[in-house]
Amino acid sequence: MSTPTETTGAGATRRAREEHSEKVWTVLELLRWTADYFASKGIETARLDAECLLAHVLSVDRLRLYLDFDKPVNEAERAAYRELVRRRGSERVPIAQITGVREFWSLPIRITPAVLSPRPESETLVAAALELLPDPEAPARVLEIGTGSGALALALASERPRLRITATDISPAALAVALGNAEGLGVAERIRFLPGDLFAPVQSERFDLIVSNPPYVAESQRGSLPPELAHEPAAALFGGADGLALLEPLVRAAREHLEAGGGLAVECAPPQADRVAGWCREAGFHSVTKRRDLAGRDRVVAARGGG
Ligand SMILES: C[S@@+](CC[C@H](N)C(=O)[O-])C[C@H]1O[C@@H](n2cnc3c(N)ncnc32)[C@H](O)[C@@H]1O
Repeated sequence: MSTPTETTGAGATRRAREEHSEKVWTVLELLRWTADYFASKGIETARLDAECLLAHVLSVDRLRLYLDFDKPVNEAERAAYRELVRRRGSERVPIAQITGVREFWSLPIRITPAVLSPRPESETLVAAALELLPDPEAPARVLEIGTGSGALALALASERPRLRITATDISPAALAVALGNAEGLGVAERIRFLPGDLFAPVQSERFDLIVSNPPYVAESQRGSLPPELAHEPAAALFGGADGLALLEPLVRAAREHLEAGGGLAVECAPPQADRVAGWCREAGFHSVTKRRDLAGRDRVVAARGGG
């Protein structure tokens, strides 16, 4: 960690360095310093991010830090931490890309630069999908389009042992991450991973449920997005000029790939929800509903009536 005194002249800089190298940094001091630094960079989750990175370096649970506030952090640990703080603060790398893991639906999901970190709002999609499969004991076939890290498929598989899931993605690199996650969670034998565009990998197959969180950010917003998104795969984020380039064909073609009465649940941006719901009705679905995320914004459109 640098200190402000380093900028006040050569002698002062040397003294500050000497003091600095002898200074004992405790967990709490490091967290406070880092949270201030992250906040100065405009990072909204400054304290949380500091805790995640320090917990990662010390190989402890984040809550453990609270019990160890007064514990000194040694130089080797601080050096490792410094590098992560630099990546977060200066390069704006998302926390999950730094630690390599993100919790989703209480599952640890491994993250690499090939996949989008699953977002908390996508848990609304999982909940909507589960409601479309009301009998937890019934076997059912599920298709997830654009599985990325596999987070949605894994959440569904963990909730419903009798589901048979097909998870697709245009990115083979993403599918490799998803497969690794499925193996790590012991559900790989229940998920079939297929590469390809939208419904191409499943051709004329039919399912009881189709679920998807496709890329839906408008290209026109590219310049105004948080810097963190530059570290996530563009193919996972952008859905053409207006963000609808995948959503629309996906919704319009979904019914042909559903068994009679099957369900559809898709995630979208809040301003897109009414249009997505409209396409569902036009395609012949009924019981079309919008679901809100935890922030109270329309985030998911669910519908019934495949076949
Ligand atoms: C928003 S991410 C969703 C990832 C994951 N399902 C989640 O919710 O965290 C969208 C995913 O769709 C994939 N994708 C993009 N275009 C696709 C296409 N034409 N067909 C299938 N998958 C596509 C991307 O590679 C990316 O993994």
